[in-house]
Amino acid sequence: MAARHFLTLNDMTTSELEDLVDHATHLRNEWRQGKVRDSLKNRVLAMIFEKSSTRTRVSFEAGMAQLGGSAMFLSPRDTQLGRGEPIEDSAIVISSMVDAVMIRTFAHETVERFAAASRVPVINALTDEFHPCQLLADMQTYREHRGSIRGATVAWIGDGNNMCHSYINAAAQFDFHLNVACPEGYEPAKELLEAHSDRVTLFRDPHEAARQAQLLVTDVWASMGQEDEQKAREKAFRGYQINPDLLAVADKSALFMHCLPAHRGEEISGDMMDHPASVVWHEAENRLHAQKALLEFLILNRLG
Ligand code: CP
Ligand code: NVA
Repeated sequence: MAARHFLTLNDMTTSELEDLVDHATHLRNEWRQGKVRDSLKNRVLAMIFEKSSTRTRVSFEAGMAQLGGSAMFLSPRDTQLGRGEPIEDSAIVISSMVDAVMIRTFAHETVERFAAASRVPVINALTDEFHPCQLLADMQTYREHRGSIRGATVAWIGDGNNMCHSYINAAAQFDFHLNVACPEGYEPAKELLEAHSDRVTLFRDPHEAARQAQLLVTDVWASMGQEDEQKAREKAFRGYQINPDLLAVADKSALFMHCLPAHRGEEISGDMMDHPASVVWHEAENRLHAQKALLEFLILNRLG
């Protein structure tokens, strides 16, 4: 049987995603009660990181250990990938030795090429274009606080980046409407906007986008790999900040999320992380539970 991959949210059906998110909550509860689970005993995850990470690395590595397996951190600095060994050759070799591979890299095409040559499931742990693992945690977090997100309005404030792209996919898969507020020149990919024109509305004014929204989300103005653009982006994104004033136009029940790391004083005001509407710490912890559910789904071909 060909391996199932998770390169974008579109690699799963809506019902698979919903079951996975529910299972993640089950794993969270089990873990909080101190129950030992060894569903991935003796299984190995290879983790290829070509960009920095705190949450993704810690959650995948801790998650594998907590399920009885192990994870191996591979950086281009000390593997042959960094010395030009072809992606396909690396995929054939690595996937002949482990049970799943997780990759964080620049071009989305890299994970696609790796997956095409891999015998085992490949997980996109962030590319320049998508960050689907974060969306699993975000959807789990919303559900744990507010129930189903179906029919809700979500406001994305800021860059039309990898996170925004995954929110567009999530809008279609989880059935909500996405308002995107971004400055000119920083819109999400045209093809995605066109493919989901019934689900996504583009705004210039963050207040218009946030009006009546049940969830406000943002991300850094300059993503990894865009460090040289920091100054220009600070200028372009001024005003695209989530703060209590913006929150005041949203629905009374509105939650605030951020994938983190966050830049206080840029995309959020200094008081947002600990604002009563903020669920960012819960969201970050849920990376662990959502990924454990994902690893079970991909490696065992079932949930738990
Ligand atoms: N949100 C997220 O992916 O964080 P890291 O870059 O720390 O993994
Ligand atoms: N858009 C950010 C997300 C970090 C988790 C980046 O790609 O750097």
